Amino acid sequence: MSLVQSLWILLLTLCVLGCNATDGVGQQLHECVATALQPSECAEAVVSPPDAESLRNYEKEAEDSRVRKHYSDMRRFQTEDFTRRMEKKFGGFTNANMTIRQAFKLLENYVDASDPDVSLPNVIHNFMAAEAARKAGKPDWMQLTALLHDVGKLMFAWGEEQDGMSGRPDGRQYSLGGDTWVLGSPIPSVAVFPEYNMLNADHVALNGTENNKLGMGLRSFRFPWGHDEYAYRFLAHPANGCKLPEVALQIVRLHSCYPLHSKRAYDHLLAPGDEEILQRVIEFNKFDLYSKADETLKDMDRLWPYYETLIDKYFERGANGLLHF
Ligand SMILES: [Fe+2]
Ligand SMILES: [Fe+2]
Repeated sequence: MSLVQSLWILLLTLCVLGCNATDGVGQQLHECVATALQPSECAEAVVSPPDAESLRNYEKEAEDSRVRKHYSDMRRFQTEDFTRRMEKKFGGFTNANMTIRQAFKLLENYVDASDPDVSLPNVIHNFMAAEAARKAGKPDWMQLTALLHDVGKLMFAWGEEQDGMSGRPDGRQYSLGGDTWVLGSPIPSVAVFPEYNMLNADHVALNGTENNKLGMGLRSFRFPWGHDEYAYRFLAHPANGCKLPEVALQIVRLHSCYPLHSKRAYDHLLAPGDEEILQRVIEFNKFDLYSKADETLKDMDRLWPYYETLIDKYFERGANGLLHF
């Protein structure tokens, strides 16, 4: 054995011993050894955020029938016809008039059944995302966008179990949360649980028509009815007087479409200018994902005054204004 080989084995041994320091980092080091990365690459892998790999782990959650059931229901029931029916039901924003803070009060008991990373009431997750954007020094419009990105889940307050709008985590929530896709195109195989794609009647009918809308641009995309689409329309509704920039509204609308912004399955449908929006969605998603820790953000009351100044700035009627939900 040469001196170089001996040194290499010594390095690997030290790397393996180091694995015992902490589980997450140890696992990464272990993978460095297993995949025979060079030491510099190994060091780089260790300093990268360990959370990234553990989040959105749908394989780990495959045994979790709650998440599986959610996605099979979503694929089965979220069709063009269903979306049109929900647009009629919710698109007029006649369900309630209330302040954003009152809307958040309603969300306090809602837990998202489709999310494998978090079992907290959604309202806490909203504050976590907003605080993560604030701590990262992002502009105030991005912080407020993070606070509001999941507000559409409050459709559960007026929706029905049979339409997938239950507020209970053991109820049907297939039209509230979950990764989405673009209507009018076959559902891509990179969507989570692609084995359920064939349950979707539109997908079956559209098979083989992948390229029929080349370059249409994401502003022409239509999406299954869910919290993203509802919240986007809520913010865009003229009567609600929202002054957030258009990119903020697009972040809200697109944030659950992972096949679009992360898996890049719809690049052939994009138009000039869309890439900038997708990059903003990806930037935002860090705050959506990495803020999902199962720890309690204790004092939401303490945070409200700050966020109400942002609502004052970006809504014509201010934080005390009643908005149409
Ligand atoms: Fe969301
Ligand atoms: Fe979220």
